[in-house]
Order: sequence, then structure tokens, then C-alpha cells
Amino acid sequence: MAHVFVTGGAGFIGSHTVLVLLEAGHRVTVLDNLCNASEAALERVRALTGKPVAFVQGDVRSPQDLDRALADRPDAVIHFAGLKAVGESVEKPLAYYDNNVNGTLRLLEAMARAGCKRMVFSSSATVYGEPDALPIREDAPLRTTNPYGRTKLVIEDMLRDAAAADKNLRAVMLRYFNPVGAHPSGQIGEDPRGAPNNLMPYVMQVAVGRRDKLSVFGGDYPTKDGTGVRDYIHVMDLARGHVAAIDRIVALNDALPSPFAVNLGTGRGYSVLEIVKAASAAVGRALPYAIVARRPGDAAAVYADPTLAKAQLGWEAKLGIDEMCRDAWKWQQQNPNGYSA
Ligand code: NAD
Ligand code: UFG
Repeated sequence: MAHVFVTGGAGFIGSHTVLVLLEAGHRVTVLDNLCNASEAALERVRALTGKPVAFVQGDVRSPQDLDRALADRPDAVIHFAGLKAVGESVEKPLAYYDNNVNGTLRLLEAMARAGCKRMVFSSSATVYGEPDALPIREDAPLRTTNPYGRTKLVIEDMLRDAAAADKNLRAVMLRYFNPVGAHPSGQIGEDPRGAPNNLMPYVMQVAVGRRDKLSVFGGDYPTKDGTGVRDYIHVMDLARGHVAAIDRIVALNDALPSPFAVNLGTGRGYSVLEIVKAASAAVGRALPYAIVARRPGDAAAVYADPTLAKAQLGWEAKLGIDEMCRDAWKWQQQNPNGYSA
């Protein structure tokens, strides 16, 4: 069993991953500055698992915070910490380069000081931009349309350069498609601050009465029903993907190619209207929506070829769209105002 250091572990994907790591018997230390999370998420993870989670409130850009958190030399790092709102990254690009790129640079330096050589990094399907071919394989051209996406590309390049220079550094770059849903208990979930940018949390806030109706961004895409198509993946499946990556990186070590980029998706695309339909079924009534103009920068359709994850990590997504909507709704119903209720 490994000791895993998790940056951003109080956040949406981080909290679910910490829970699954604990359930798999790993020991976990979290570093989070709580800029987009609540410590209540970790308290609930402790309650759900009955296991301890060490927590350091600190910043990945701070060498002091990192040295303190890495003092007992963890076996591996999962690096979630960063900013993730595409629109905000256009308004505040330097904050994105600082938190995401500078944060990862400081983390790699601190890992070198602590003698820690294994990193699993949160990359994104955003590195593929508007794809030429579907489903998207890991060797597709890398390009992106916004500063957030560029920070992910710069970090991937940084990991490639660092691993080329240090043959002992093992880096796995997990390219997530669209994470949604929540733990089936409804105790932990996604708690965006302000109006949600992403589809599923917006739909769930409509369902719980916090928003009037969903605006569907574009009804004239060349897709099955004219609305955008994405590869939604249950956050519990995504969390299991991280544990598979940790187990692989620890077991294989030198035998694992490094760095190694892997898609985490289901391989299935759903349109916005299909999501509205599945969410309406989970909620038990029709959810109101209106089709409006396209959102600038959105691709028509994005979905993964998940073959490599199965072959190399022994992982595949198991949960479908009905479970995603059921669990998102359970979380939203039990926590209409998120953790701040
Ligand atoms: P999140 O905002 O819920 O989690 C990120 C966590 O990092 C938060 O708890 C936040 O407080 C913390 N954090 C941010 N900056 C920090 C800093 N400088 N120092 C310490 N902690 C800091 O987001 P999430 O959805 O859980 O995403 C996790 C990672 O996955 C991010 O790197 C994100 O870019 C990536 N990702 C997310 C999605 C998605 O749709 N949710 C898709 C692809 C990739
Ligand atoms: N959508 C709406 N209305 C909304 C929100 C979204 O119609 O209020 C549509 C979008 O146009 C898109 C789909 O729902 O067709 C999904 O949109 P999201 O914002 O939920 O997700 P994106 O695919 O746009 O973005 C996600 C992550 C990004 C990441 C990107 C990579 O949020 O961080 O995947 O593909 F960069």
C-alpha cells in the first residue's frame, strides 16, 4: 500500500479520488488552499470511509508549504490543484499560468527535494481542441483554444522535458473528458462557486430551483440533434482511474513509459438534449431549457477512444448516464447549496 500526496484533494475530483484511495487501503495526505473547495468535503470523506486523511492547508506555489507536506516522503503524487474555468482564464490568464504552470513547476522542484519520483497529473481533453477525427486517440494533434487549455499543454510539455532529463521520473498524464456525478451516498459532490459554467451542475441547479432554465448553447451543430456532444464520465469511475494509475506506476515503475498520456472517458458521446432527458428522468419531471446561440470556442463533438486506458491501466468506465444523473441529483437534493448549507 502506498502513501499518496494529493494536491487539490478537497476539490470535486480530488475528494472522490481520496475516498477511493482510502477504500483501496492507501494512506493519503492532502494539500489544498481551499480557493475552490471546502474542508467539509474531507470531513465527509473521513466519515464515509472511517479512515484518517492528513490535511495541510497550503498552496502549491509555496515551497515552504510543499516541503512541510512532503516531509515524510510519499510514494507518489496526484496533482489536481489548479484553476479550471475556461472563461475566467480568458479574463485572468496570468492567474492561470501562475496557479497551474508555476504551481506544477514548484511541485516538481519540491518532489525532487523530497526524492519523490512519481506523478499522476490532471490533464484534460481540452488539449485536443476541435478534433479532426473521432473517437479521439492519445496520438491526436495537440492544440487548444484558450489560456486554461494552454496551461495544460505547457504542463504536459514540462513533464515530457523533465522525464527526458530524469530517467527515474515517472509521470502519467490523465486526460479527462467530462467528469460529472457524485458519490452514490450523495455526501460529496461538485460545488461550483457562482453560476456553474458546466452543463451538469447547471442542470442540477435548475432541478433544485436555484436557476430558472438551462440555456442550451447552440442547436445547429452537425450532430445527431444539433446540440453539442461530449463524453461524460462518472466521477467515481474517474477516481478509480487514478487509483489504477497509482497502482500501475508503483508496481511497474521503470517498465512504465514516461511520461505517459492516457484518456479517461467512456468512449460514448451524449448530446446536451440527451443529458437534459436523462436528468429529467432522474429528477422525475421535465427540466426547462431554451436553445440559444453557440458558446464561443465550443467544439461540436468530443469523445474519447478509451482503449489505451484499458490496455495499460486495466481500467474502464463502468457507470452510465443514468447513474451519473441519479448521483448528481442525490447530491444536489441533499445539499441544495453545496457544502455551505
Ligand atoms: P476543483 O476546483 O474542484 O479542484 C481543484 C482544487 O485545487 C480545489 O480544491 C482548489 O481549492 C485547489 N487549488 C487550486 N489552486 C490551488 C493552489 N494554488 N494551491 C493549492 N490548492 C489549489 O476542480 P476539479 O474539477 O476537481 O479539477 C481537478 C483537476 O482536474 C484540475 O487540475 C482541472 O483542471 C482538471 N480537470 C477538470 C475537469 C473538469 O471538468 N472538472 C476536466 C479536465 C481536467
Ligand atoms: N452547455 C450548455 N449549456 C450550459 C453549459 C454547457 O448547453 O449552460 C453545453 C456546451 O455547449 C457543451 C456541453 O454542454 O456542448 C458541455 O459543456 P461543459 O461546459 O459542461 O463542458 P466542456 O466540454 O465545454 O468543457 C469541459 C471542461 C473543461 C475542459 C473541456 C475539455 O469543463 O475544463 O471539457 O474538453 F477544458
